[in-house]
Amino acid sequence: MDERKSCENAKIERERSHIFCYNKEMFEMTKLNSALEKFYLKTEIPVELRDSVLYSIEAGGKRIRPVLFLELLAGFGIELAQAHYQAAAAIELIHTGSLIHDDLPAMDNDDYRRGKASNHKVFGETLAILAGDALFLDPYYLLASCDLPAETIVSLVRELSAASGSLGMVAGQVLDMLSEGKTLSLSQLENLHELKTGRMLTFPFVAAGYVSGRESQIEILRKVGEKLGLAFQIRDDILDVSATIEEIGKTPGKDVLEDKSTYVSLLGLNAAKKELMSNLNAAREVLRNLQDFDSAAVLSIIEGLEIE
Ligand code: IPE
Ligand code: IPE
Ligand code: MG
Ligand code: MG
Ligand code: MG
Repeated sequence: MDERKSCENAKIERERSHIFCYNKEMFEMTKLNSALEKFYLKTEIPVELRDSVLYSIEAGGKRIRPVLFLELLAGFGIELAQAHYQAAAAIELIHTGSLIHDDLPAMDNDDYRRGKASNHKVFGETLAILAGDALFLDPYYLLASCDLPAETIVSLVRELSAASGSLGMVAGQVLDMLSEGKTLSLSQLENLHELKTGRMLTFPFVAAGYVSGRESQIEILRKVGEKLGLAFQIRDDILDVSATIEEIGKTPGKDVLEDKSTYVSLLGLNAAKKELMSNLNAAREVLRNLQDFDSAAVLSIIEGLEIE
Protein backbone atom coordinates (compact mmCIF):
# COMPACT_ATOMS: atom_id res chain seq x y z
CA MET A 1 0.00 0.00 0.00
CA ASP A 2 1.41 3.39 -0.86
CA GLU A 3 1.82 6.12 1.74
CA ARG A 4 -1.18 8.12 0.54
CA LYS A 5 -3.51 5.14 0.82
CA SER A 6 -2.16 4.37 4.31
CA CYS A 7 -2.98 7.90 5.41
CA GLU A 8 -6.46 7.75 3.91
CA ASN A 9 -7.19 4.51 5.74
CA ALA A 10 -5.97 5.98 9.01
CA LYS A 11 -8.20 9.01 8.45
CA ILE A 12 -11.25 6.88 7.72
CA GLU A 13 -10.45 4.87 10.83
CA ARG A 14 -10.41 8.00 12.98
CA GLU A 15 -13.65 9.22 11.50
CA ARG A 16 -15.31 5.86 11.93
CA SER A 17 -14.34 5.46 15.51
CA HIS A 18 -15.02 8.37 17.79
CA ILE A 19 -15.08 5.51 20.24
CA PHE A 20 -11.31 5.38 20.39
CA CYS A 21 -9.53 8.33 18.93
CA TYR A 22 -5.80 8.12 18.71
CA ASN A 23 -4.17 11.26 17.42
CA LYS A 24 -0.77 9.86 16.61
CA GLU A 25 1.19 11.65 13.98
CA MET A 26 0.42 10.11 10.60
CA PHE A 27 4.09 9.61 9.85
CA GLU A 28 4.55 7.03 12.59
CA MET A 29 1.32 5.25 11.70
CA THR A 30 2.60 5.06 8.12
CA LYS A 31 5.81 3.43 9.32
CA LEU A 32 3.83 0.93 11.34
CA ASN A 33 1.54 0.15 8.42
CA SER A 34 4.46 -0.38 6.10
CA ALA A 35 6.11 -2.76 8.63
CA LEU A 36 2.80 -4.64 8.74
CA GLU A 37 2.54 -5.01 4.99
CA LYS A 38 6.13 -5.44 3.95
CA PHE A 39 6.43 -9.15 4.67
CA TYR A 40 3.39 -9.94 2.50
CA LEU A 41 4.64 -8.01 -0.50
CA LYS A 42 7.30 -10.70 -1.07
CA THR A 43 6.82 -12.11 -4.52
CA GLU A 44 7.08 -15.78 -3.52
CA ILE A 45 3.88 -15.67 -1.43
CA PRO A 46 0.85 -17.05 -3.32
CA VAL A 47 -1.22 -14.12 -4.49
CA GLU A 48 -4.45 -15.51 -2.98
CA LEU A 49 -2.83 -15.73 0.45
CA ARG A 50 -1.32 -12.27 0.12
CA ASP A 51 -4.65 -10.72 -0.89
CA SER A 52 -6.50 -12.38 1.96
CA VAL A 53 -3.93 -11.35 4.60
CA LEU A 54 -3.55 -7.78 3.31
CA TYR A 55 -7.33 -7.36 3.13
CA SER A 56 -7.60 -7.78 6.89
CA ILE A 57 -4.44 -5.84 7.71
CA GLU A 58 -5.41 -2.91 5.52
CA ALA A 59 -8.98 -2.85 6.82
CA GLY A 60 -7.41 -0.86 9.65
CA GLY A 61 -8.36 -1.35 13.25
CA LYS A 62 -7.37 0.76 16.21
CA ARG A 63 -3.81 -0.61 16.33
CA ILE A 64 -3.89 -0.15 20.08
CA ARG A 65 -1.40 -2.96 20.83
CA PRO A 66 1.44 -1.73 18.56
CA VAL A 67 0.72 1.89 19.45
CA LEU A 68 1.00 1.10 23.16
CA PHE A 69 4.32 -0.63 22.56
CA LEU A 70 5.70 2.31 20.57
CA GLU A 71 4.43 4.90 23.07
CA LEU A 72 5.88 2.94 25.96
CA LEU A 73 9.27 2.90 24.27
CA ALA A 74 9.01 6.63 23.55
CA GLY A 75 7.99 7.21 27.19
CA PHE A 76 11.22 5.51 28.25
CA GLY A 77 13.11 7.92 26.03
CA ILE A 78 13.95 5.39 23.31
CA GLU A 79 14.35 6.79 19.79
CA LEU A 80 12.11 4.67 17.57
CA ALA A 81 13.87 2.63 14.88
CA GLN A 82 12.82 0.13 12.22
CA ALA A 83 13.25 -2.83 14.60
CA HIS A 84 10.70 -1.30 16.97
CA TYR A 85 8.15 -0.94 14.20
CA GLN A 86 8.78 -4.58 13.20
CA ALA A 87 8.23 -5.78 16.77
CA ALA A 88 5.11 -3.60 16.95
CA ALA A 89 3.90 -5.16 13.70
CA ALA A 90 4.44 -8.69 15.06
CA ILE A 91 1.77 -8.28 17.74
CA GLU A 92 -0.71 -6.61 15.38
CA LEU A 93 -0.31 -9.44 12.86
CA ILE A 94 -1.15 -12.10 15.44
CA HIS A 95 -4.06 -10.00 16.69
CA THR A 96 -5.37 -9.67 13.13
CA GLY A 97 -5.14 -13.44 12.66
CA SER A 98 -7.10 -13.95 15.86
CA LEU A 99 -9.87 -11.70 14.53
CA ILE A 100 -10.09 -13.59 11.22
CA HIS A 101 -10.48 -16.89 13.09
CA ASP A 102 -12.83 -15.36 15.68
CA ASP A 103 -15.26 -14.40 12.90
CA LEU A 104 -15.39 -17.85 11.28
CA PRO A 105 -18.75 -19.67 11.26
CA ALA A 106 -17.29 -22.30 13.62
CA MET A 107 -16.49 -19.54 16.10
CA ASP A 108 -18.49 -16.28 16.43
CA ASN A 109 -19.89 -16.40 12.89
CA ASP A 110 -19.55 -12.68 12.29
CA ASP A 111 -20.01 -11.14 8.84
CA TYR A 112 -18.36 -7.76 9.53
CA ARG A 113 -14.99 -6.75 10.86
CA ARG A 114 -13.16 -3.44 10.86
CA GLY A 115 -15.97 -1.85 8.88
CA LYS A 116 -15.80 -4.38 6.05
CA ALA A 117 -17.04 -7.87 5.23
CA SER A 118 -15.21 -10.49 7.33
CA ASN A 119 -12.27 -12.22 5.71
CA HIS A 120 -14.11 -15.51 5.11
CA LYS A 121 -17.07 -13.70 3.51
CA VAL A 122 -14.71 -12.34 0.84
CA PHE A 123 -12.09 -15.09 0.45
CA GLY A 124 -13.93 -18.17 1.71
CA GLU A 125 -13.31 -20.21 4.84
CA THR A 126 -10.30 -22.12 3.54
CA LEU A 127 -8.26 -19.02 2.77
CA ALA A 128 -9.46 -17.29 5.94
CA ILE A 129 -8.22 -20.20 8.05
CA LEU A 130 -4.90 -20.24 6.21
CA ALA A 131 -4.52 -16.43 6.37
CA GLY A 132 -4.99 -16.74 10.13
CA ASP A 133 -2.37 -19.49 10.27
CA ALA A 134 0.08 -17.29 8.35
CA LEU A 135 -0.61 -14.35 10.65
CA PHE A 136 0.13 -16.50 13.70
CA LEU A 137 3.45 -17.80 12.36
CA ASP A 138 5.03 -15.08 10.20
CA PRO A 139 5.48 -12.64 13.10
CA TYR A 140 8.16 -14.93 14.54
CA TYR A 141 10.16 -14.63 11.31
CA LEU A 142 9.75 -10.87 11.55
CA LEU A 143 10.82 -10.79 15.20
CA ALA A 144 13.78 -13.09 14.62
CA SER A 145 14.94 -10.79 11.79
CA CYS A 146 14.77 -7.60 13.89
CA ASP A 147 17.93 -5.61 14.48
CA LEU A 148 17.78 -6.14 18.26
CA PRO A 149 20.13 -8.01 20.63
CA ALA A 150 19.63 -11.79 20.40
CA GLU A 151 18.64 -12.11 24.07
CA THR A 152 15.97 -9.43 23.62
CA ILE A 153 14.56 -11.29 20.62
CA VAL A 154 14.42 -14.53 22.63
CA SER A 155 12.47 -12.75 25.39
CA LEU A 156 10.06 -11.24 22.86
CA VAL A 157 9.49 -14.60 21.14
CA ARG A 158 8.81 -16.30 24.48
CA GLU A 159 6.44 -13.56 25.68
CA LEU A 160 4.57 -13.27 22.37
CA SER A 161 4.05 -17.01 22.18
CA ALA A 162 2.85 -17.10 25.80
CA ALA A 163 0.47 -14.19 25.15
CA SER A 164 -1.04 -15.67 22.03
CA GLY A 165 -0.91 -19.48 22.30
CA SER A 166 -2.11 -22.11 24.74
CA LEU A 167 -0.97 -19.97 27.67
CA GLY A 168 -2.91 -16.93 26.44
CA MET A 169 -5.30 -15.93 23.69
CA VAL A 170 -5.98 -19.40 22.24
CA ALA A 171 -6.71 -20.78 25.73
CA GLY A 172 -9.07 -17.85 26.31
CA GLN A 173 -10.84 -18.47 23.01
CA VAL A 174 -11.38 -22.11 24.02
CA LEU A 175 -12.86 -21.02 27.37
CA ASP A 176 -15.01 -18.48 25.52
CA MET A 177 -16.44 -21.17 23.24
CA LEU A 178 -17.04 -23.54 26.15
CA SER A 179 -18.79 -20.78 28.11
CA GLU A 180 -21.54 -20.24 25.52
CA GLY A 181 -24.92 -20.84 27.14
CA LYS A 182 -23.41 -21.14 30.64
CA THR A 183 -23.29 -18.81 33.63
CA LEU A 184 -19.74 -18.38 34.85
CA SER A 185 -18.69 -17.04 38.21
CA LEU A 186 -17.07 -13.59 38.13
CA SER A 187 -13.64 -15.07 38.76
CA GLN A 188 -14.08 -17.60 35.93
CA LEU A 189 -15.12 -14.79 33.58
CA GLU A 190 -12.21 -12.64 34.71
CA ASN A 191 -9.84 -15.52 33.97
CA LEU A 192 -11.41 -16.00 30.51
CA HIS A 193 -11.05 -12.30 29.66
CA GLU A 194 -7.51 -12.12 31.01
CA LEU A 195 -6.53 -14.99 28.73
CA LYS A 196 -8.43 -14.22 25.53
CA THR A 197 -7.68 -10.49 25.45
CA GLY A 198 -5.64 -9.51 28.48
CA ARG A 199 -2.44 -11.33 27.57
CA MET A 200 -2.21 -9.81 24.08
CA LEU A 201 -2.62 -6.34 25.60
CA THR A 202 -0.06 -7.11 28.28
CA PHE A 203 2.56 -8.09 25.71
CA PRO A 204 3.27 -4.49 24.57
CA PHE A 205 4.08 -3.54 28.17
CA VAL A 206 6.36 -6.49 28.86
CA ALA A 207 8.00 -6.22 25.43
CA ALA A 208 8.69 -2.51 25.97
CA GLY A 209 10.38 -3.44 29.25
CA TYR A 210 12.75 -5.86 27.51
CA VAL A 211 13.45 -3.65 24.51
CA SER A 212 14.20 -0.59 26.66
CA GLY A 213 16.42 -2.59 29.02
CA ARG A 214 14.10 -1.98 32.01
CA GLU A 215 14.05 -5.60 33.18
CA SER A 216 13.75 -4.46 36.80
CA GLN A 217 10.42 -2.78 36.00
CA ILE A 218 8.87 -5.58 33.98
CA GLU A 219 6.58 -6.83 36.74
CA ILE A 220 5.15 -3.31 37.15
CA LEU A 221 4.67 -3.09 33.40
CA ARG A 222 3.01 -6.52 33.35
CA LYS A 223 0.58 -5.45 36.07
CA VAL A 224 -0.42 -2.30 34.16
CA GLY A 225 -0.96 -4.40 31.02
CA GLU A 226 -3.08 -6.94 32.89
CA LYS A 227 -5.40 -4.25 34.29
CA LEU A 228 -5.64 -2.51 30.93
CA GLY A 229 -6.18 -5.80 29.09
CA LEU A 230 -9.05 -6.84 31.34
CA ALA A 231 -10.54 -3.35 31.01
CA PHE A 232 -10.27 -3.61 27.22
CA GLN A 233 -12.40 -6.77 27.01
CA ILE A 234 -14.95 -5.41 29.51
CA ARG A 235 -15.18 -2.33 27.26
CA ASP A 236 -15.62 -4.58 24.22
CA ASP A 237 -18.48 -6.37 26.03
CA ILE A 238 -20.09 -2.99 26.80
CA LEU A 239 -19.75 -1.74 23.22
CA ASP A 240 -21.36 -4.94 21.94
CA VAL A 241 -24.62 -3.86 23.60
CA SER A 242 -24.32 -0.08 23.33
CA ALA A 243 -22.53 0.89 20.10
CA THR A 244 -23.57 0.98 16.45
CA ILE A 245 -22.05 -1.02 13.60
CA GLU A 246 -20.57 2.22 12.23
CA GLU A 247 -18.85 2.96 15.53
CA ILE A 248 -17.33 -0.46 16.13
CA GLY A 249 -17.05 -1.72 12.55
CA LYS A 250 -18.45 -5.13 13.55
CA THR A 251 -21.91 -6.50 14.30
CA PRO A 252 -23.27 -5.28 17.62
CA GLY A 253 -25.48 -7.56 19.70
CA LYS A 254 -23.46 -10.66 18.74
CA ASP A 255 -22.74 -11.65 22.33
CA VAL A 256 -26.43 -12.03 23.21
CA LEU A 257 -27.07 -13.83 19.93
CA GLU A 258 -24.29 -16.36 20.60
CA ASP A 259 -25.20 -16.59 24.31
CA LYS A 260 -21.71 -15.51 25.37
CA SER A 261 -20.51 -15.05 28.92
CA THR A 262 -19.67 -11.35 29.18
CA TYR A 263 -19.37 -8.72 31.91
CA VAL A 264 -22.66 -7.25 30.71
CA SER A 265 -24.51 -10.59 30.74
CA LEU A 266 -23.19 -11.42 34.19
CA LEU A 267 -23.27 -8.06 35.97
CA GLY A 268 -25.51 -5.81 33.85
CA LEU A 269 -24.46 -2.71 31.93
CA ASN A 270 -23.95 -0.31 34.83
CA ALA A 271 -21.87 -2.67 36.94
CA ALA A 272 -19.82 -3.58 33.84
CA LYS A 273 -19.09 0.13 33.32
CA LYS A 274 -17.97 0.39 36.94
CA GLU A 275 -15.67 -2.61 36.47
CA LEU A 276 -14.23 -0.95 33.35
CA MET A 277 -13.48 2.26 35.25
CA SER A 278 -12.07 0.43 38.23
CA ASN A 279 -9.63 -1.53 36.05
CA LEU A 280 -8.61 1.59 34.10
CA ASN A 281 -8.01 3.39 37.40
CA ALA A 282 -5.99 0.46 38.70
CA ALA A 283 -3.86 0.57 35.52
CA ARG A 284 -3.23 4.31 36.06
CA GLU A 285 -2.37 3.69 39.70
CA VAL A 286 0.23 1.00 38.95
CA LEU A 287 1.63 3.07 36.07
CA ARG A 288 2.68 5.70 38.60
CA ASN A 289 5.25 3.28 40.01
CA LEU A 290 7.31 3.32 36.81
CA GLN A 291 10.54 5.23 37.13
CA ASP A 292 12.10 7.51 34.53
CA PHE A 293 9.01 7.22 32.38
CA ASP A 294 7.00 9.96 30.68
CA SER A 295 3.47 8.57 31.01
CA ALA A 296 1.52 11.30 29.18
CA ALA A 297 0.85 9.37 25.95
CA VAL A 298 -0.06 6.09 27.66
CA LEU A 299 -2.35 7.96 30.08
CA SER A 300 -4.12 9.54 27.13
CA ILE A 301 -4.65 6.12 25.53
CA ILE A 302 -6.10 4.85 28.83
CA GLU A 303 -8.37 7.88 29.04
CA GLY A 304 -9.57 7.17 25.50
CA LEU A 305 -10.91 3.82 26.72
CA GLU A 306 -13.27 5.34 29.27
CA ILE A 307 -17.00 5.00 28.73
CA GLU A 308 -19.36 7.25 30.71
C1 IPE B 1 -11.15 -6.75 19.16
O1 IPE B 1 -9.93 -6.10 19.32
C2 IPE B 1 -11.11 -8.08 19.82
C3 IPE B 1 -10.77 -8.00 21.22
C4 IPE B 1 -9.73 -8.56 21.70
C5 IPE B 1 -11.63 -7.28 22.15
P1 IPE B 1 -9.78 -4.58 18.89
O2 IPE B 1 -10.92 -3.81 19.49
O3 IPE B 1 -8.42 -4.11 19.24
O4 IPE B 1 -9.98 -4.67 17.34
P2 IPE B 1 -9.32 -3.79 16.16
O5 IPE B 1 -7.90 -4.21 16.06
O6 IPE B 1 -9.46 -2.35 16.56
O7 IPE B 1 -10.11 -4.13 14.95
C1 IPE C 1 -12.35 -11.98 20.76
O1 IPE C 1 -13.32 -11.53 21.65
C2 IPE C 1 -11.04 -11.89 21.32
C3 IPE C 1 -10.06 -12.47 20.38
C4 IPE C 1 -9.11 -13.19 20.83
C5 IPE C 1 -10.12 -12.23 18.94
P1 IPE C 1 -14.66 -11.12 20.91
O2 IPE C 1 -15.23 -12.26 20.17
O3 IPE C 1 -15.54 -10.44 21.92
O4 IPE C 1 -14.13 -10.02 19.89
P2 IPE C 1 -15.05 -9.26 18.85
O5 IPE C 1 -16.13 -8.58 19.65
O6 IPE C 1 -15.58 -10.27 17.90
O7 IPE C 1 -14.10 -8.27 18.24
MG1 MG D 1 -15.09 -14.29 20.16
MG1 MG E 1 -16.15 -12.17 18.17
MG1 MG F 1 -16.68 -8.73 21.55
